[in-house]
Amino acid sequence: MTSPYGIEGRAAIVTGASRGIGLAVAQALADAGARVCVTARDPDGVARAAERVGGIGLAGSVADPAHLWELTELALREFGRIDVVVNNAATNQPYGPLMDADPDRWREAFTVNVEAPLRLVQCVWRAWMGEHGGAVVNICTEGAGHVGPHVGAYGTSKAALQHLTRQLAGELAPKVRVNSVSPGLVRTEMARFVWEDGEDELGAGLPLGRIGRPEDIARAVLWLASDAAEWITGADLLVDGGTRVRAAYTAAPGPTVQERLRTRTPGLQRPPDSAGQRR
Ligand SMILES: NC(=O)c1ccc[n+]([C@@H]2O[C@H](COP(=O)([O-])OP(=O)(O)OC[C@H]3O[C@@H](n4cnc5c(N)ncnc54)[C@H](OP(=O)(O)O)[C@@H]3O)[C@@H](O)[C@H]2O)c1
Repeated sequence: MTSPYGIEGRAAIVTGASRGIGLAVAQALADAGARVCVTARDPDGVARAAERVGGIGLAGSVADPAHLWELTELALREFGRIDVVVNNAATNQPYGPLMDADPDRWREAFTVNVEAPLRLVQCVWRAWMGEHGGAVVNICTEGAGHVGPHVGAYGTSKAALQHLTRQLAGELAPKVRVNSVSPGLVRTEMARFVWEDGEDELGAGLPLGRIGRPEDIARAVLWLASDAAEWITGADLLVDGGTRVRAAYTAAPGPTVQERLRTRTPGLQRPPDSAGQRR
């Protein structure tokens, strides 16, 4: 069956695609007929993801500018084109009050969450999109619209990414569309410290009755990257199960994400190994 997205034969780069939302995005793009190049730091995770989506991969950190060039060159060499870039890799460190934040770790958050997306778009613009066009989707967060406990560095960098999205949308039009998707709480390793031991309760407190799955976000990204969204640029698509309108939802008020963030600390954001231990 032909995909309704008009994305067959196109080529995409997805960062942070070894697990979670990035892997679901890579899978959705591949299922819709795109050829996909994935990246993340862990080489085994990248190899597994590339095999799973039937694409290619290159291990490295998005914080390394050389890696972003190599990624661009690899995708162009293997696919002959780069139509879609999904900037998904991110860090939620340093976690805690900003008065305790180490400025060097604050800078690292901006390197990964803001600078890397800009650098990758610059690479791909120069290598392909500036001449041939394309679509960029940046993964932000529902939380970027307001302040919250302990996530000052993350929220500030994601708010900057939203602004970068709009700025690039204007600068790169009409050749390249640039949009963002802002997820609410999604069941991934990054957010495990929030939903673990409370998933049902948190879900019951949301208007749409559950926390997010990576596929919920992937479908939105696929749509924004596709020709179905050909007249949309500079937009931020909120995919949050109704988190933003929760104040008017009186059916089953449970704890909010914000409430849980007050008392919880993130782990190392590594997936469990085969023995179930987090690395
Ligand atoms: N989960 C949520 O509730 C939620 C809510 C709002 C927004 N988001 C956003 O959604 C995106 C994906 O998060 P997720 O929840 O899917 O997280 P995740 O399951 O922890 O996955 C993160 C991915 O990014 C990779 N990664 C991390 N740092 C990297 C770096 N410096 N360079 C290259 N790859 C890197 C990880 O692999 P390696 O560790 O091997 O590098 C992994 O593939 C992020 O932008 C996050 O801010 C998530």
